[in-house]
Amino acid sequence: MQPKGLTFRQGDLSHPPSWAAISKLLADIFDFDVTALDRMGGPDPSSMAFSWFGKDSWLAANLTAFALPMAIDGRAVRAAGLQSGAVRPEFRGLGLFRDLIEKALTWYDDQGFEAVLLYTDKPGLYEKHGFVVLPQSRFLAETCVAGSAIPPPRRMDFGDPDDLALIKKMLARRKPVSDRFAVARQSEMFLLNTWLSDDVRLDYLQTLDAIIAWRQGEGDMVELLDIVATTIPTLGDIQAGLNLTTGRIAVDFVPDLLACNATAAMDDDPLVLMMRGPAHLRPAGPIRLPELAHF
Ligand SMILES: CC(C)(COP(=O)(O)OP(=O)(O)OC[C@H]1O[C@@H](n2cnc3c(N)ncnc32)[C@H](O)[C@@H]1OP(=O)(O)O)[C@@H](O)C(=O)NCCC(=O)NCCS
Repeated sequence: MQPKGLTFRQGDLSHPPSWAAISKLLADIFDFDVTALDRMGGPDPSSMAFSWFGKDSWLAANLTAFALPMAIDGRAVRAAGLQSGAVRPEFRGLGLFRDLIEKALTWYDDQGFEAVLLYTDKPGLYEKHGFVVLPQSRFLAETCVAGSAIPPPRRMDFGDPDDLALIKKMLARRKPVSDRFAVARQSEMFLLNTWLSDDVRLDYLQTLDAIIAWRQGEGDMVELLDIVATTIPTLGDIQAGLNLTTGRIAVDFVPDLLACNATAAMDDDPLVLMMRGPAHLRPAGPIRLPELAHF
């Protein structure tokens, strides 16, 4: 297709005008500011943007692909993500988005990705392209064996260059937080989501060499959001390290490595996770991706 006045471009995000144009489109359409990434090392270098541009790097429509290596049911899966899908209102209904999805999916297949994941509140937009909804669950930890006392954590601060360097170093070498279903490597969304949230605490437990991302929830509920480490500590060790006395801990990921009992309940969030790929790669049993991995 060749819409009047628009030019198609495909490229990574290392070109500052392209990144600026995508940032502006996301701010205009979703009121979402991704420019914080500029202070934290820039956008994901694996990104590939599929875009229809007007004059002067003005962006009418965009869809961005990026590498999203996953652990699914104990297997390392070469997966990718799709994000930043938007068309300006005056260009909607012309088939621009369908064109971008088709181009992106051809690119994924050419690159040999095994699966593609995305979040959406409009699953109908993607079902016709082979995506299926992966129902997510909420996990509530029930019982675990308490760990022995360890030195208190150090609260990490994004504004401190040494802390930011440590967070980035640990993200680069992290182990998936679950063997059942988790992101294996993806630093930028963790950094951006944490930056944009005003109540996420990042505590570094030196004895465990682990960064624990968590927040105080409602009442005495604690929300365990993510663990950045090369060895995932048990929930008992985390409770001891953070000196958490509450028995109610909501876990924002599959808790198979936490050595605790947990109950799972279906999540009815209208924002759903979808996957395109062979049926044998779809996870068995209840799953969840943490909000800090959202893209
Ligand atoms: C949703 C959006 C990307 C569609 O862009 P568009 O260029 O108007 O879409 P197209 O004209 O290419 O239509 C593609 C298909 O999607 C369908 N579609 C369009 N909007 C849809 C919606 N809101 N929900 C479900 N399907 C939709 C069209 O009917 C069309 O179906 P077809 O391929 O069977 O003919 C655009 O409306 C938009 O940017 N919305 C705001 C941001 C947003 O929601 N982004 C998607 C995030 S997951």
